Amino acid sequence: MTTTTKKVLVTGTSAGGIGEFITRSLLENENVEVIGLARRQAEYGERYTHTQGDISDPSTIEKVKNAVGDRLDAAVFNAGILGEVNRVENANIDSVKHVFEINYFGPIVLTKAVLPALRAANGRAIYTSSLASENPVPGWLAYGGSKAALNTFVAILATEEPQITALAIEPGLVDTPMQATIREKQWDVMSKEAQRHFLEMKEKGLLVNPKDTGTTFAKMALHAKHDWSGKYAPWNDPLFENLN
Ligand SMILES: NC(=O)c1ccc[n+]([C@@H]2O[C@H](COP(=O)([O-])OP(=O)(O)OC[C@H]3O[C@@H](n4cnc5c(N)ncnc54)[C@H](OP(=O)(O)O)[C@@H]3O)[C@@H](O)[C@H]2O)c1
Repeated sequence: MTTTTKKVLVTGTSAGGIGEFITRSLLENENVEVIGLARRQAEYGERYTHTQGDISDPSTIEKVKNAVGDRLDAAVFNAGILGEVNRVENANIDSVKHVFEINYFGPIVLTKAVLPALRAANGRAIYTSSLASENPVPGWLAYGGSKAALNTFVAILATEEPQITALAIEPGLVDTPMQATIREKQWDVMSKEAQRHFLEMKEKGLLVNPKDTGTTFAKMALHAKHDWSGKYAPWNDPLFENLN
């Protein structure tokens, strides 16, 4: 029996975040090659190819498209930023738009670029959403809005593209540099209750280990079922148990 190599694109693969652990988990399978994207450099061995660039830059999209070629088994659209945290009345709209450029338009433009390759492989497209897409946190206008919009994009994509499987997955609160920033900045605009929640989740050891998140997202990229396409779901949804 011959085994064919699976090609998977992962965005946001630089060290410390969820993308690092998705990549490491995928590469545990010797039949997987990963094409990664981040502004910083990243290295994960010979089955990993990195594109260094910004997801909002058209020339980066072109480079990733070329690295992907004409067939792509899966893509995990994971790169994202928290960005502007501010009350609506004080919001810097250019900063809010910047968050949408990275978290919403970035995945859309990159999806457009690799869609023919995903169709060719009946591929899977997994998008990293957030609890903030459905639970309003004071000050998180940009981030929460961009992730809610992403969920809608994924649902629409699924209706239009029967050849691919598209899912928006929220990973819970994961112990990454993004969580460290939320705890350190202590933005006044966030409610005291929200600030305390983020601190306590770390202090009580309740944040999700990014290695576990990476393992689950890697399994989804390789094994998510087509009839789930269009869903927004938590990473630990019982639906995803025994995924392999
Ligand atoms: N951690 C959590 O609790 C949590 C919860 C819900 C959802 N999420 C989502 O999970 C995803 C990963 O978050 P994380 O916690 O791993 O955050 P992180 O540690 O800050 O990592 C974010 C990754 O995205 C990349 N990135 C950021 N801006 C980029 C850009 N303009 N172009 C290309 N790559 C870019 C970063 O690499 P460079 O800096 O090198 O570009 C990094 O690799 C994000 O979409 C986030 O919204 C996280």
